[in-house]
Amino acid sequence: MSDNTLNLQNLGSASTLSRKLEDGISFVIFGASGDLTRRKLIPALYNLACGGLLPAKFSVFGFAVTPMDDDSFREQMRAGVQESKEAKPFDPKVWDAFAAGLHYVTADFVAPEGYQTLASRLEEAEKRAGRTGKRLFYLATPPSFMADIVARLGEHGLVTPTAAPGEGWSRVVLEKPFGRDLKSAIDLNASIHKVLQEDQIYRIDHYLGKETVQNILAFRFANSIIEPIWNRRYIDHVQITAGETLGVEHRGGYYEQAGCLRDMFQNHLLQLLATVAMDPPVRYGGSSVRDRKADVLHAIVPINPENLADIAVRGQYGPGHINGVDVPGYRQEDGVSPLSNTETFVALKLFVDNWRWADVPFYMRSGKRLPSKVTEINIQFKRVPHLFFQLGADDQMEANTLTIRIQPDEGIALRFCAKIPGPEMHLRQVQMNFSYTDSFQVEPSTAYETLLLDSMEGDPTLFNRADQVESAWTAIEPLIDIWSATGPFQPFPNYAAGTWGPSASDTLLARDGRAWKNSASTGVSSVVRVDSECPAIIAGGEAGKGA
Ligand code: BG6
Repeated sequence: MSDNTLNLQNLGSASTLSRKLEDGISFVIFGASGDLTRRKLIPALYNLACGGLLPAKFSVFGFAVTPMDDDSFREQMRAGVQESKEAKPFDPKVWDAFAAGLHYVTADFVAPEGYQTLASRLEEAEKRAGRTGKRLFYLATPPSFMADIVARLGEHGLVTPTAAPGEGWSRVVLEKPFGRDLKSAIDLNASIHKVLQEDQIYRIDHYLGKETVQNILAFRFANSIIEPIWNRRYIDHVQITAGETLGVEHRGGYYEQAGCLRDMFQNHLLQLLATVAMDPPVRYGGSSVRDRKADVLHAIVPINPENLADIAVRGQYGPGHINGVDVPGYRQEDGVSPLSNTETFVALKLFVDNWRWADVPFYMRSGKRLPSKVTEINIQFKRVPHLFFQLGADDQMEANTLTIRIQPDEGIALRFCAKIPGPEMHLRQVQMNFSYTDSFQVEPSTAYETLLLDSMEGDPTLFNRADQVESAWTAIEPLIDIWSATGPFQPFPNYAAGTWGPSASDTLLARDGRAWKNSASTGVSSVVRVDSECPAIIAGGEAGKGA
């Protein structure tokens, strides 16, 4: 297989797909001296190189204000790959070939000189390779620079409108956060639309590149038993949790301005909600998937500021312990004000007002310094309408729950009631489990690998459109307004590091007679595994021993 043919051999027999990228792509990274480039982008490109997935004549041009030459940029990126837990094992041969295409331009984002230098370096490289420009500009910068950078790209002729097939093209990938509220997002969209057409703009949300998030569509729409029950008739409520054990690390400065609502909800959590709640698209690709997700975001019931306390909870962690280690509170972190009112935890109840979901609550929570790193979606089904078993105090009778484990231990589990083996009819909860690792025997590729490939290929399915981003800001705007207007006297910190957020988060569900589920914290006493190759149930755990 030639090195410009995308092969998905690492998925073994799971896929026969083979895609081809055009030769001679230039990948320009604005903010190349930053953390994202070193920790995520270059390791993802290196992984693609290891898999023979990069096109021939591929070059990377880093662009940032930190002074560096090509060699020191290569050195730093090499260290990044060697340190990265997500990068494939370091292979000097692959690295050397890849690193030969790494270049660096030291320049200010707003001054014209850097863009002139970049233009001539791109043209030189394109001339040498005898190719027309196929340019992907990746803006790994704070949102405040994005409009200026795109304007300069236009002024210097570095981007041109979408070309005919076979000709050169230019696309721009914009990292999150996209704006910092609805107005700034609308303004940013308006500015970049002066230079670029919408089909040249790739607004990235790395959650959409995760295998497990893409699998939500496969699970829902490629299995005939799922879709008929995926609605308000059978589903009682949905819970989405994205918990992290880490604090803000070295990102205190950024996080002070962002907070959990902007950092996780406006993008990742609302995208998970849209993926779980969307109607079936006409096809995979084009605008179809994005249209259906946009429908969901448009249908979110506006937050009513008058009953805010009943639907939203914010928190900030104080000192505590995680995995037996003492950790400081948020206000003690580097770059954080000792009086900070920034929220590090949010729990929210939203409704999606359409035929499928009317009156079904979507409870969502996310926070830093929680007891475990876990992202999962729990679909809680309704109880059976009538129970004729004579149950005793030891019997367990719960409504069915389907858990989609986005990370870690990627997979899907269904909890249901089963008869305990023995002469009498007693029930307990058991679990059927699908695990990616067991079924496919491969580590899923990282989200950035998928998304970088898609953007180079010109497939926008997993990227956000202007209207989606604006609807997501609209959904949380009332909270941003009210929370930022409340004075300096928040009762923060209101949860200890290593706990599941403030008690008000539990009250949010308890008020509705419900409780948060968390497979990572509650554990599962009995596991029944389903082999993906053969649908026969293989008994395991305590249930298996008894059978
Ligand atoms: C980023 C946020 O977008 O997502 C971070 O800025 C957060 O604060 C991260 O830690 C979580 O991503 P993941 O893939 O580790 O769940």
